[in-house]
Amino acid sequence: MKKLLVVVLLLGLLLPGALAQEQKPELTYTEPYMVTLNPGSEMNIIWLTKEPCQGSVEYGLTPVMGESATAEQYEIKGFRTSATAEGFDPDPAKNPELPVYQLIAKLENLQPGKVYYYRVTTTKDGENQVGKRYFFKTAPEKGDEFNFALLSDMQLKVKTKETIRFMGQQDIDFILFAGDLINTPWKVSEWFNVEGCFEVPAEADRSFFECLHQDADNTRLAQYMPIFYCPGNHEVDDQRVCTDKEIAQNPDNWNWSIYMQMFRPLYPEQDYTVNGKRYYSADYGDLHISSINVHRWQSWDGFEFPGWITYDEIGPDSAQAKWLQEDLAKADNKYKWVVMHWHMLNRGNDGYFPVSKAVEDPQNPGKAIYPDGDYCWDVLRPLFETYKVNAVNFGHSHVYERYLINGVNYIEAASIGNNYRSSNDPYHPSGNIPVVEENHFRSIMLVNVSEEGITARGLQASVEDNGIGYIGREFDSFTIAK
Ligand SMILES: [Fe+2]
Ligand SMILES: [Fe+2]
Repeated sequence: MKKLLVVVLLLGLLLPGALAQEQKPELTYTEPYMVTLNPGSEMNIIWLTKEPCQGSVEYGLTPVMGESATAEQYEIKGFRTSATAEGFDPDPAKNPELPVYQLIAKLENLQPGKVYYYRVTTTKDGENQVGKRYFFKTAPEKGDEFNFALLSDMQLKVKTKETIRFMGQQDIDFILFAGDLINTPWKVSEWFNVEGCFEVPAEADRSFFECLHQDADNTRLAQYMPIFYCPGNHEVDDQRVCTDKEIAQNPDNWNWSIYMQMFRPLYPEQDYTVNGKRYYSADYGDLHISSINVHRWQSWDGFEFPGWITYDEIGPDSAQAKWLQEDLAKADNKYKWVVMHWHMLNRGNDGYFPVSKAVEDPQNPGKAIYPDGDYCWDVLRPLFETYKVNAVNFGHSHVYERYLINGVNYIEAASIGNNYRSSNDPYHPSGNIPVVEENHFRSIMLVNVSEEGITARGLQASVEDNGIGYIGREFDSFTIAK
């Protein structure tokens, strides 16, 4: 007995860190995720903690790493836990605020086209919690090969997790995410698990990070690559703007604060208000990526009040359209790609609604007309064509669809959780019909950029009750010559 006590005491002396670490609760809410505006030379490693903590990142070109960067700490404002363990109150203010802290380490002066290993350490009161070692790849020099995948509309949908896992098992260097990350940004459990916070039982394992941080079975996602996001309609903090006309008509209720804080380095201005800068661009080797904010709500009862449907302008004189024009004009990359949420050729259950200001039709009281036309079609499309954008990827309609219009590929590859399309949906009023539409199963699109040009492939990611196909089957492809 005495001997055993000595052994236990000795172990305690030899392994104080290990024993202490096991007893202390986790400081972090999430594994690291990353964003960057300069993927060839910089990476922001971001993670979320439960309390104010210090953070650092070891990194380097070999698994030994050797370099280190200190993280900046921020508090993310606006997250709320549920009013009770049984549910959220529909009024966000009636749910308790949950402070969440964010650590961001900016790794700078990286070499292009290299694999970097990294590991985060979270420190509180002298206690270090060391994370797992991961790696990421910096963007290559122009001319070199890389791969990426298109994603959007995760929103805790059925089979999203499985579809994302399939995506993470492919050879990809980054993801373009066309918005609608979750359903309601202030509901913290839609992002990650928080003790005592309500989760819809069926969605309990489908939060944003539970999907994007999967890493079993050679799955590599948000810990291993940057994601280039754009906001969707579900990135507005208070989703009651979707269902409550009074709330929707007050521009003060339009706020993108949680989304913009989560991906802070993409939006250094952090202006959450209407027409704040929610657009950016980044060069990834031969590819120029422009991310813009285009989304709107549907109408109610066939009538939309003037002004409240298209907050964040893309009209001809808007700051965003002017920025996009200048951005595309000066990009000298071989290929140009735009990511935006609103499906410009939207149709179906969602319906087709022009993006511009609605006014009441004098001939038909209670119905909306759009004297300014559709700014997607009339303002953005000419920019895409003039500046030879190769592809635009959308989300929002939850479909797999690809169009080719005047040399521009328009793609939504968001058939990941459900779809909003039925076979008798009318086509876009322009008469354009998709080259490919495929909504019989979940799917993803993978894109390869190499000396040969761009090759994009639609891959089947599930087999549904209809029995069609098999997982991994290529059902769509297109190329863009160099
Ligand atoms: Fe969506
Ligand atoms: Fe949407």
